[in-house]
Amino acid sequence: MKQFISAHDVKDINAIVEKALLYKADPFKDKTIGVNKRIGCLFLNPSMRTRLSTQIAAQNLGMEAIVFNVGSEGWSLEFEEGAIMNGSTVEHVKDAAPIMGNYFDILAIRTFPTLKSREEDYSEQYIQQFIKYAGIPIVSLESATLHPLQSLTDVITIKETFRETRRPKIVLTWAPHVKPLPQCVANSFAQWINAWGEAEFVITHPNGYELAEQFTNGANIVHDQNEALKEADYIYVKNWSAYQDYGQVLSTDPSWMLTNDKLKLTNNAKVMHCLPVRRNVELSDEILDGPNSIITREASNRVWAAQAVLNEILRSN
Ligand code: CP
Repeated sequence: MKQFISAHDVKDINAIVEKALLYKADPFKDKTIGVNKRIGCLFLNPSMRTRLSTQIAAQNLGMEAIVFNVGSEGWSLEFEEGAIMNGSTVEHVKDAAPIMGNYFDILAIRTFPTLKSREEDYSEQYIQQFIKYAGIPIVSLESATLHPLQSLTDVITIKETFRETRRPKIVLTWAPHVKPLPQCVANSFAQWINAWGEAEFVITHPNGYELAEQFTNGANIVHDQNEALKEADYIYVKNWSAYQDYGQVLSTDPSWMLTNDKLKLTNNAKVMHCLPVRRNVELSDEILDGPNSIITREASNRVWAAQAVLNEILRSN
């Protein structure tokens, strides 16, 4: 594996899930593969789970992990080609990325979208510039449009908890939120579940919240949430801002928040969320604290997803 920025970078999703679950059973079985190797984890935006799980994963493989909060502690980076840098940016990615390429063996980056220009965000300009100029493998810690380590974790969590021989019914549901959030987690979840291809996949959201078809093609889109939830085995809850009316909050309708009453429509569905979550806005206390929530297991699995990806990169570079 040369880079990890989307589901397309993985040849065999089931194989990498198996690798992750082997690490869960025996975290230190490859504890020397990364000795004398260094990963730089660059955060242009905040994080808890991604930051900690990636460091733990790297250390389990014997790697040194160095975290740099570029967004709050580094020079303000410029990404535009040919920019006349007479404004607030101090250093061009063309100059910074090759240096990081010399300091590290793998570079992992979190770069959120601006939610101002859809064209700019969906070009993935920031992470693409690091790929172009760093000269070493790049791992996405969540980019402008995708969150692949989260989605790999989500497939791992579904595979390890589903006990039936049939295909699970998985429902991705929009949920209300007070702020405009990126589409990354929803896009990425849709991309991975479609690429995995072993589930009945339904997406439900209010009108106006359609995601980019490049990610959702293959899913059944249903605008009636109660209809979508019928016989679901897994409900993936997430808010996102509008893709068409880019970055806008079109609804805060509280009736879209998942409750125990809605859960009765399902096949005793397990409930997932990437976290962080706004309690009693995006998801109710009764769901988060109830027996159907598997969010802690899901977040814990972030370590094994990251470890499997780092192993793949270390083995092929
Ligand atoms: N789910 C997730 O990426 O969590 P953090 O933003 O805390 O890393």
